[in-house]
Amino acid sequence: MLNKIKKLQSEVEDFRTNNLEELDQFRIKMLGKKGEVTLLFGEFKQVPAELKRDFGQAINVLKNSVQDKIKTLFSELKTVDSGPSGQDLTAPGEPSPLGTRHPISLVRNQIIDIFKRLGFNVSIGPEIEDDWHVFSALNFPPEHPARDMQDTFFINQDPDILLRTHTSSVQVRVMENEKPPIRTISPGRVFRNEAISARSHCIFHQVEGLYIDKNVSFADLKQTLQFFAKEIFGPSTDIRLRPSYFPFTEPSAEMDISCSLCNGKGCNLCKYTGWLEILGCGMVDPNVLESVGIDSHEYTGFAFGMGIERIALLKYNIKDIRLLFENDVRFLEQFQNAQ
Ligand code: PHE
Repeated sequence: MLNKIKKLQSEVEDFRTNNLEELDQFRIKMLGKKGEVTLLFGEFKQVPAELKRDFGQAINVLKNSVQDKIKTLFSELKTVDSGPSGQDLTAPGEPSPLGTRHPISLVRNQIIDIFKRLGFNVSIGPEIEDDWHVFSALNFPPEHPARDMQDTFFINQDPDILLRTHTSSVQVRVMENEKPPIRTISPGRVFRNEAISARSHCIFHQVEGLYIDKNVSFADLKQTLQFFAKEIFGPSTDIRLRPSYFPFTEPSAEMDISCSLCNGKGCNLCKYTGWLEILGCGMVDPNVLESVGIDSHEYTGFAFGMGIERIALLKYNIKDIRLLFENDVRFLEQFQNAQ
C-alpha cells in the first residue's frame, strides 16, 4: 500500500496541464468521492495499528501535495486562460469616465444659441490686435485710461500691438469687411492687466453683439436684451437700464437684471439693491460707423457686451471667479448635468 502511495505521489508531481478542464478531472480523480486519495483514507481503517502512523502521514502528505498542485496550476491557468495579455476577458468592462463641459463653455454656448435664434451670426477674430481695432476705430480718445499700460497688455509699442481688452475689435473687423445689415455676436477671450481676485481675473471671456441696419432703435436694443435676460436667467427675470458711458456708444447704458438669488427682494449677492449688473450696451456712436466707412445718416445700430464669467458666476452661484480657471476636476464634475 505504501507503494501505491508512492506511485500516486510521483503521479501528482509529474502532472501537468494547460487546461482547466483537465485540472478539474485530476481533482476528481484524486479527491472526488471515489478518488484515489479518498479511497486510501477508506483503506486506512484496515491498516494494522503499528503501521497506522507511517501510513497516515504518507496519505496526508499525498493529500496536501494534490491540493497544492491544484492550487498552483489553477492560478497559473487562470492568468493564461484569460487572454493573450493576461487580462480577464470575462471581467465586466470598466466604464470610461465621462468628461464635462466647462461652465464657461456651457454659458457661452447658451448665449450663442439665444442670439442665433434672433438671427445673429457668430464672428471670431484675433486675440493679438492693433490699436486701431481695439481703440481708435471705436472712438477712444487718445488719452483714454483704457489705453493705459495699467489696463492693456502691450506686446509692442509703435506700432501698438496688444492683447485685445474686449471683443469689440472683432466687430470693427466685421464692419470693415461687410455691408449692413450686420447682426453678429463675437465670443472670445480678452485680457486686462488687473489684479486677480475672487471677482476679477486678467483673462476672461466676453460675448459682444452688434446690430446695424436702417432704423435700428434703442427700443430694438431693449427688446433684444430683455429677451436674452429671460432666456438665460428664467422668464421671471426683469431688466433695467441705467445711463452710462462708453466711447463707442451714444447713448450708453448698463443693464441690470433682477437678482437671481432673491428675486429682487434684497440679499447679500445683490448687496440689498435687488439688482445685478450684467452688461454694457448702447447705440453705436456715429463716429464709429464713419471710421469703418458706414454712412451714419443711412444706418444706425446697437451694441452690447458682457463677460461670460460674470454670467456663469451668477447663474451657477459660484463664489470665486478663480474656480473657473483652476480646472479642479472636483469642481468641474459638478456641472455634469448643468444646463
Ligand atoms: N466693450 C465693452 C467692454 O468691454 C462692453 C460694451 C460693448 C459696452 C458694447 C457697450 C457696447 O466693457
